Amino acid sequence: MRFIIQTVLLAAAGIALAQDFSKEGNFGAPFPDTTYPGFDSTNPSTIAGSRTNQTSPPKYPSPWGTGYGEWAAAYAKARAFVSQLTLEEKVNLTTGTGWELDRCVGQTGSIPRLAFRALCLQDSPVGVRDTDFNSVFPAGVNVAATWDTGVAFARGQAMGQEHRGKGVDMQLGPVAGPLGRVPEGGRNWEGFSPDPVLTGVMFAQSIQGIQSAGVMTSAKHYIAYEQEHFRLKADSAGYGFTISDGYSSNIDDVTMHELYLWPFADGVRAGATSVMCSYNNVNNSQACQNSYMMNYLLKGELGFQGFVVSDWLGTMSGVSSILAGLDMTMPGDSNAYDSGDSFFGANLTVAVLNGTVPMWRIDDMAMRIMAGFFFVETNTTRGPINFSSWTLDTDGPEHYYVGQGYTQINDHVNVVGNHGSLIRSIGARSTVLLKNVNNTLPLTGKEQLTAVFGNDAGPNVNGPNSCSDRGCDLGTLGMAWGSGSANFPYLVTPDTAIQNTVLSAGGAYESVLDNQQLASIGALARRASVSIIFANADSGEFYIQVDGNLGDRNNLTFWQGADTAISTVASNCSNTVLVVHSVGPVMLEQYKRHPNITAILWAGVPGQESGNSIADVLYGHINPGAKLPFTVGSNRSEYGTDVLYTPNNGALVPQLDFEEGVFIDYRAFDRRNITPTYEFGFGMSYTSFNYSNLRITKLNVSDYVPFSGYTPQAPVYGNMSLNASDHLFPANFSRVPLYQYPWLNTTDLARASADPQYGSWSFVPEGALDQSAQPIPPAGGAPGGNPMLYDALYRVQATITNTGSVAGEEVPQLYISRGGPYDPVRELRGFERLSIQPNTSATFSVDVLRRDIMSWDTVAQNWYVQNTTKTAWVGSSSRDLRLQGVLP
Ligand SMILES: *[C@@H]1O[C@H](CO)[C@@H](O)[C@H](O)[C@H]1NC(C)=O
Ligand SMILES: *[C@@H]1O[C@H](CO)[C@@H](O)[C@H](O)[C@H]1NC(C)=O
Ligand SMILES: *[C@@H]1O[C@H](CO)[C@@H](O)[C@H](O)[C@H]1NC(C)=O
Ligand SMILES: *[C@@H]1O[C@H](CO)[C@@H](O)[C@H](O)[C@H]1NC(C)=O
Ligand SMILES: *[C@@H]1O[C@H](CO)[C@@H](O)[C@H](O)[C@H]1NC(C)=O
Ligand SMILES: *[C@@H]1O[C@H](CO)[C@@H](O)[C@H](O)[C@H]1NC(C)=O
Ligand SMILES: *[C@@H]1O[C@H](CO)[C@@H](O)[C@H](O)[C@H]1NC(C)=O
Ligand SMILES: *[C@@H]1O[C@H](CO)[C@@H](O)[C@H](O)[C@H]1NC(C)=O
Ligand SMILES: *[C@@H]1O[C@H](CO)[C@@H](O)[C@H](O)[C@H]1NC(C)=O
Repeated sequence: MRFIIQTVLLAAAGIALAQDFSKEGNFGAPFPDTTYPGFDSTNPSTIAGSRTNQTSPPKYPSPWGTGYGEWAAAYAKARAFVSQLTLEEKVNLTTGTGWELDRCVGQTGSIPRLAFRALCLQDSPVGVRDTDFNSVFPAGVNVAATWDTGVAFARGQAMGQEHRGKGVDMQLGPVAGPLGRVPEGGRNWEGFSPDPVLTGVMFAQSIQGIQSAGVMTSAKHYIAYEQEHFRLKADSAGYGFTISDGYSSNIDDVTMHELYLWPFADGVRAGATSVMCSYNNVNNSQACQNSYMMNYLLKGELGFQGFVVSDWLGTMSGVSSILAGLDMTMPGDSNAYDSGDSFFGANLTVAVLNGTVPMWRIDDMAMRIMAGFFFVETNTTRGPINFSSWTLDTDGPEHYYVGQGYTQINDHVNVVGNHGSLIRSIGARSTVLLKNVNNTLPLTGKEQLTAVFGNDAGPNVNGPNSCSDRGCDLGTLGMAWGSGSANFPYLVTPDTAIQNTVLSAGGAYESVLDNQQLASIGALARRASVSIIFANADSGEFYIQVDGNLGDRNNLTFWQGADTAISTVASNCSNTVLVVHSVGPVMLEQYKRHPNITAILWAGVPGQESGNSIADVLYGHINPGAKLPFTVGSNRSEYGTDVLYTPNNGALVPQLDFEEGVFIDYRAFDRRNITPTYEFGFGMSYTSFNYSNLRITKLNVSDYVPFSGYTPQAPVYGNMSLNASDHLFPANFSRVPLYQYPWLNTTDLARASADPQYGSWSFVPEGALDQSAQPIPPAGGAPGGNPMLYDALYRVQATITNTGSVAGEEVPQLYISRGGPYDPVRELRGFERLSIQPNTSATFSVDVLRRDIMSWDTVAQNWYVQNTTKTAWVGSSSRDLRLQGVLP
């Protein structure tokens, strides 16, 4: 409370908030919204979505890593390593050297004394960014559409191998934030699904896949980074918007636990080595200096043992962020790229010497980073970083931005292995069959004349990599835009792949790849035996705008003028197949209803093998088994959530009130009883499945016990001199300009810091320096939270029979109603992708974990089971619920 009052007073006094000021708590007065449907202030389970309790109270000290469970061995190695380090060496591990000043998009300092080279942190979640001879994998949203955990792991492992082959230590991914609160969200495609269970499972499998290749992951973006508009002050200013800081996502405690934090719990439990904090504020405290989010939820309740790294320029302070739980700053520079100064670096050395960052805390930062390193890697001597992110030329400057150190900087190592076939298969296995009248599909290739249409079927004639970070929508959509991109090694277009298939089967083939050529389109469609039209919708990251879309989409309809082309084809050909490449939902109602559109496929954002993947499905080499990982509504307003496109708080922080609580995507449609065009979990096959014989078995398990216990006292490793003269730059040290070093210029700490407000803004929150044993939250106790949350309470089984004539894959889904008056109608709690031969059956079997039926109690700060009847359904989608039972 103290902090809230101080913040308000200072803001009222018109004093600009210095970077080191910890902005905790909610700026605004709480304003209970009793008009919110379902609001009942006496019932804690009704608080979700209300505008009460959208706070992030201060939580200190920052929990120190203890090496729980499977982290024990990594902590032992880290302890041995960190105990040898000097203060500067520890600081070096925590601080990026500066933007474009070394080879990777983020690179820490090194420890030359121990021959420990810099840690290389590299984008992206779809492949190694900014290099060559790498693969481009299907996007996260496609992985979710497979509903196949093996796919998530295999893709992760292949991406990890490629990163490792380039000398990368940490891949910046996977993504569970954004989760997908708004369907227009620009970066939803990098992540998986607006359902927290589907995302949590895919997130965990991706983390384990990547890390199995000896590469750390950065589970991102933590947390509530649900739109691109106004994420940061600086890039908003670039579009002419004046705001004082990135938007604040205001979320109550129930919604945080039951929705947005859920997949991060899975990621932490899966052993994520690092978590990346996001640009936005959460409850008006910046995510990278929000002690509630980092200290309390992530490191306390979820027992996270790895380190927190900032998003690029997401660090807004030094001491305050560190005390709130931030362990590493990237790319190292403060406030602006190549500013030449840092909140960490020399400032961190100074902060340890002046006592505002305690020794145990810098030790914990170094320990967490090295434990993450040893969690995936045994040998501190690694291969070299063999590429530069800043040029594809073979020779160039090592310190690119300042042009120093001319050398061979690209070895052009080919890391693709045989990943092309994996990518092709994931592309096909993530394609969702939405409509298929009278078995239009699969095609044979022997149709007399096959016609293909659409810009989205063809190439970008300037080349697949011609737009920087894929910031354009030309040709087929193999990848969306932003830092979550990578360079294509090639991009197989649908035009090429379908033509190859048709010609080898002996058919005739023509295509029109320009949506503006309506006369040619109509004339060809009139002659065609089958017309296949491709259409797309793109999105990406805020720093690039495409056709006026500032990252987030402006609409949920098609791009490239595709709507007119589709109606031209469909009004001329009664056998029209529509293929959708999109980052998320697009409005399909009119095409679902169109009598001449006989089939619709959603192919997502499939990566480099796009054309081959879709041809495999169109021609039946792969029987579609994917399911929609989101809801396709018939109108954007049905989602009940939308992007904030115009700042709503004057020149201050835009306020995003997550008033819908947990009711996003299908939970919103179910709650308001709206029939979508295609529901969450929907997807057809070339065969059919029968569901029977639901079995629900109660497993023998003891009652939930809140965790109780204390951490040990914060440990300190090695000896550190607190004498400033021991921390000066070595004599005759040759500095790279603008580079971040850990040493001091002078023994005068204020001058060494060069902070004009040195000392005056030193804000050490109450308890932040406390080194004594701390209580572990009742919902905590292990990575992922209280281990008893993951006990299996029930086993749900059903018999799934392939009643058609071809082999196929089906994803039975388990939905549960927790039964409370304000809970979602039903929530996904389990799924399994089964491969079944014709006329045979398979058993669907999933375990219901304790947390699957629990609710968050904001007062007890723990999970509890409501005294309600809990219903279970096994279905083929969230609305096609074939079997129903009650959890005994
Ligand atoms: C910190 O890292 C930089 C960059 O790799 C290196 O030049 C310097 O020697 C390192 N300092 C220490 C104390 O190891
Ligand atoms: C330390 O941080 C302050 C505040 O941002 C900044 O003005 C100063 O330049 C930084 N010092 C160094 C050495 O980076
Ligand atoms: C660590 O890697 C280096 C370089 O590849 C190798 O020479 C050394 O033998 C390895 N050490 C261990 C313990 O595997
Ligand atoms: C599908 O086939 C049935 C039976 O042959 C026919 O009556 C119906 O008109 C067909 N539907 C379409 C849309 O072609
Ligand atoms: C939707 O946005 C896309 C991309 O900016 C644009 O091409 C299209 O015309 C828009 N649709 C409508 C109906 O305005
Ligand atoms: C369907 O296609 C036929 C041509 O095959 C055309 O005559 C008819 O008008 C089309 N129907 C619609 C609703 O566009
Ligand atoms: C430290 O000294 C160097 C060389 O004189 C200078 O370039 C740099 O700006 C100084 N840094 C600070 C933080 O004063
Ligand atoms: C300690 O050092 C940090 C980093 O330079 C600075 O921000 C802070 O104001 C200093 N505090 C005191 C009390 O000197
Ligand atoms: C709000 O959350 C706090 C704990 O953070 C809890 O003590 C309080 O009871 C909650 N209020 C409501 C109305 O749930």
